Amino acid sequence: MQDQYQRKIEYLRISVTDRCNLRCQYCMPAEGIPWIPHERILSFEEILRLMAVSTHLGFRRFRVTGGEPLVRKGIVEFLEQASHLPGVEDLMLTTNGIFLPETAFALKAAGVNRVNISLDTLDPLRYKEITRGGDVRQALQGVFRSLEAGLEPVKLNVVVVRSLNLDELPRFLDLAENYPLNVRFIELMPIGTGSERRNDFVPIDEMIQLLGLAKAPQAQDVAGGGPAEYLRPAGFQGSIGFISALSRHFCHTCNRVRLTADGKLRPCLHSSYEVDLLSALRSGKSDAELLDIFARAVWSKPAEHHMNEQAWQDKRYMSQIGG
Ligand code: GTP
Ligand code: 5AD
Ligand code: SF4
Repeated sequence: MQDQYQRKIEYLRISVTDRCNLRCQYCMPAEGIPWIPHERILSFEEILRLMAVSTHLGFRRFRVTGGEPLVRKGIVEFLEQASHLPGVEDLMLTTNGIFLPETAFALKAAGVNRVNISLDTLDPLRYKEITRGGDVRQALQGVFRSLEAGLEPVKLNVVVVRSLNLDELPRFLDLAENYPLNVRFIELMPIGTGSERRNDFVPIDEMIQLLGLAKAPQAQDVAGGGPAEYLRPAGFQGSIGFISALSRHFCHTCNRVRLTADGKLRPCLHSSYEVDLLSALRSGKSDAELLDIFARAVWSKPAEHHMNEQAWQDKRYMSQIGG
């Protein structure tokens, strides 16, 4: 469907859990965040019902996120059911990759088309530090398992944080040169603990300069519905993408809304306005009534975000909203 600014909205991001097996420094505080109690999280049946409602509004691409979606029990069976819903054309996952070595093939068999994997460093010690305990070898195994399983194109999400990983960008460039991987450098957003790190923000133009990519040709063939812009330097098997929510914000082309783990429809990542679908579902609303509430929430999607303003700060963590 279209929103009031004539944008075609057809992509639903679904956070199936706020829980995560890692606690990345730019995402959560060291002590973690209190988990939302299980009874306030949408059940898989409720998510499937909302997905079906959304397909009647023209939604056709679905990305399952978290927290870490693969920590939720029954996720593979849920994905299988989701992939068979009429109208679901594209089903994708965003994950930290730790559980991919053992699940990549099952995900493919369940009907997941592709995965985006968060990987902010290739260095084992640094990975342990950034994620507060994670093992980079598992994440890397997950990346290559996903390629083997055909969950392609495989994309890597690298959130660039000046004091943590700016020096590693050239190593990621090597990875995209030698493997069919699409490495996306992401500007740090002032969400969660990211909002305490404004001095760590690195604009996309600085990254492009640092990597000497100013004249690199664009890659037009990387499948995706998101905000990344891709380059493919000569001889590269993969590509280099940039996601720049702040320095070149892409709100005018936005095509998505979000469903939070606790059942709120959030028309914009960066606006705290949410519509409570969990209560609507649990108060016995009919499909027609849900469709009406859903459609009105999409219609009210804000024109743009105000993240660049110093005072801007989200009350929610990225892991609760779904990234
Ligand atoms: P593709 O379909 O593969 O392009 O996926 P994607 O890039 O939309 O999804 P992914 O979950 O991998 O997100 C990558 C980064 O983009 C994360 O840091 C997200 O928070 C960010 N992102 C995704 N959608 C939006 C959006 O609408 N606004 C902003 N500001 N950032 C977004
Ligand atoms: N800014 C930018 N990206 C972030 N992510 C988590 N927190 C932030 C932030 N503050 C990324 C994760 C994951 C994706 C869903 O969002 O690294 O790849
Ligand atoms: Fe978990 Fe992703 Fe947050 Fe890291 S960024 S703690 S992997 S939700």
